[in-house]
Amino acid sequence: MADLFSVEGKIALVTGASSGLGAHCARLLVENGASVVGLSRSIGEFADVSMNRGAEFIEADLTDAHEWDALARTVSQCFGAPQILVNAAGVNLRKHADETSAADWETTIALNLTAPFFLAQALVPAMKHQGFGRIVNFASLQSERAFNNGLAYGTTKGGVAQMTRAMAEAWSSTGVNSNALAPGFFPTQLTAPVFGDAATVQRLAQQTCIGRNGQMSDMDGPLLFLCSDASAYVTGQILYVDGGFTAK
Ligand SMILES: NC(=O)c1ccc[n+]([C@@H]2O[C@H](COP(=O)([O-])OP(=O)(O)OC[C@H]3O[C@@H](n4cnc5c(N)ncnc54)[C@H](OP(=O)(O)O)[C@@H]3O)[C@@H](O)[C@H]2O)c1
Repeated sequence: MADLFSVEGKIALVTGASSGLGAHCARLLVENGASVVGLSRSIGEFADVSMNRGAEFIEADLTDAHEWDALARTVSQCFGAPQILVNAAGVNLRKHADETSAADWETTIALNLTAPFFLAQALVPAMKHQGFGRIVNFASLQSERAFNNGLAYGTTKGGVAQMTRAMAEAWSSTGVNSNALAPGFFPTQLTAPVFGDAATVQRLAQQTCIGRNGQMSDMDGPLLFLCSDASAYVTGQILYVDGGFTAK
């Protein structure tokens, strides 16, 4: 049974590896025997992970216009072609609709939607060739709900949910499954403005069924599930890891 959730010997690309959920996912995959290429603009928390054998860092800004195939080749030069892509890089500029500039909009779309799609498109041919692939996108409560100051972010996260289903439709018959993790509130740099306010933290915790906000380790089982053989017949799904926030 344990083997069902194994990522031992797999090769993964994790974007957003310098911080928060991406850093946590990268560390978890390495600890479970995968070789991991971490990608972000700075090395940040991935510095610790990259001390391990089986971890390499690539510095890149995913909002820049990229030759995606060339980036995929650079990634593949580290350990070989990845079978797992974890699209964790993301940005939430938290601006009211009235204040959202064209530049804010473009940055949010470029990082949260464009990069995950084109990275996947560039990496999928090698996954198909191996007959095994796992794409894990990061959706959000805002994939379904409208939060204040979330217009650009929520629009992209609604898009991520649909992109995940469309990727599944396009590629699952070749062994490449696509799913998304949709976290509730986890304490990271992205949510620092939320966690900075004790009353908000308490209110959000009370909105869950479990009665607390997320802890990084809450992501471990769901991530290993979606990256391993355990999710062989699961594709196109948005897995809410939110303590029941969306159930209530
Ligand atoms: N935390 C939550 O409660 C929560 C809830 C729902 C969804 N999510 C989603 O989960 C994912 C991870 O979020 P997080 O909370 O872990 O955020 P985070 O701690 O702010 O991490 C964001 C990551 O994205 C990278 N990044 C930002 N701009 C980039 C760029 N232009 N090019 C390449 N990498 C870039 C950052 O690295 P650099 O700055 O070094 O580039 C960092 O590693 C995001 O997609 C987010 O939308 C999080």
